[in-house]
Amino acid sequence: MKKINFLNLGKHPITNNFLPNAKPKNEFFYNLKLSYHTETKLISLNNFVPPKKMFNNRYAHRASASMTMRQAYADLAKKIKKKFNPRSILEIGSNDGVFIKHFSDVQNIGVEPCKNLADLTTKMKIKTYDKFWTFQLSKKINKKHGKFDVIYSANTISHIHKLNETFKAIENSLNVEGVFILEDPSLLKSLQKLSYDQFYDEHAYVFSITALKNITKKSGLEIFNIEALNTHGGSNRVYFKKIINKKFKISNNVKRHLLTEKKYGIHKFKTYQIFAKKVNKSKESLIKIFQSIKKKKKKIIGYGATYKSSTVLNFCKISKNYINYFVDTTPTKTGKFTPGSHIPIKEYKGIADDVDYAFLGAWNFKDEIFKKEKKFIKRGGKFITHVPFPKII
Ligand code: TYD
Repeated sequence: MKKINFLNLGKHPITNNFLPNAKPKNEFFYNLKLSYHTETKLISLNNFVPPKKMFNNRYAHRASASMTMRQAYADLAKKIKKKFNPRSILEIGSNDGVFIKHFSDVQNIGVEPCKNLADLTTKMKIKTYDKFWTFQLSKKINKKHGKFDVIYSANTISHIHKLNETFKAIENSLNVEGVFILEDPSLLKSLQKLSYDQFYDEHAYVFSITALKNITKKSGLEIFNIEALNTHGGSNRVYFKKIINKKFKISNNVKRHLLTEKKYGIHKFKTYQIFAKKVNKSKESLIKIFQSIKKKKKKIIGYGATYKSSTVLNFCKISKNYINYFVDTTPTKTGKFTPGSHIPIKEYKGIADDVDYAFLGAWNFKDEIFKKEKKFIKRGGKFITHVPFPKII
């Protein structure tokens, strides 16, 4: 298999490394380049960042930080109970327990390598393994708790570098009639929305259904259903079953998704060359927007210090030259500085009266934010977004 490079986004920091001061010593940077795999059509980062640099005791992201996501996980838990009625459930990447806590009436186990998060769910009386998901861990968990009716993993499998081992371990921990549900950002949506910010250190991969099918061929698992979601700017919820399990029929929507991707050209290298060109143009026009606002001496802040925005800020070299500060609701981010771009992050207390523009770092929560910021919009405040192309809204 050959990996071909198609986009160089420059030097980037660890997105999760929110800094205690604006002049950090020895900040770690790596080259963020994207690759196309000729055989599997998988899209990945060219160089992976060592996992312990990203997933550690200081992990900042809280899955329950937004109302949209809290509601989405509560709804999904209800749906899974109704559909599969599991007696046991394992979550890979259980974060702060926003999903797994809904299964306290059955055996619910979390796997979470970030100890600060694992400690949170342990306190909630959810048995949590503060370890990376590996085949060895799967064997250990099986021995202790048996196999599982449902294994769920949202925004985590795309973070794990060794995909073959990951899927083999999942197959190993699943009951014969069990279901593995994976939820990750959709490559098709990222290409369509030109959201190149889906690529950062943690997102070693952005999956297409085509690539998922190819890479799981030898795992003993197969896709039997897919749901397209709005979360994280467009995700896929992909249901896997064991190939030997004939209980679940393969839904027609699997074929449909594959066909839509084929029509878009997800399997062709040319598609990514075109994407790369558009991304470079997007950078130019975003910078122009910032420059023209600054010329008018208007004040810009950032709204939502997301991991995604780290890619935009560092790729476009947007720092305090344009953005005075970010506001964010996550306590582990506030009082700190954005990685690489070193912009202060303030605790969200509404948008201050002297702010003219807010750069939508959390563009994936645009609807929730617009509802909340009616006052700002009413007094003439504007948002800046780069998705699907740079504009003022
Ligand atoms: P998230 O969606 O997890 O994106 P990423 O994975 O790229 O980091 O992050 C959303 C961030 O936006 C999170 O730090 C919380 C913040 N946020 C606000 O500050 N206010 C809001 O109203 C919403 C919806 C999010």
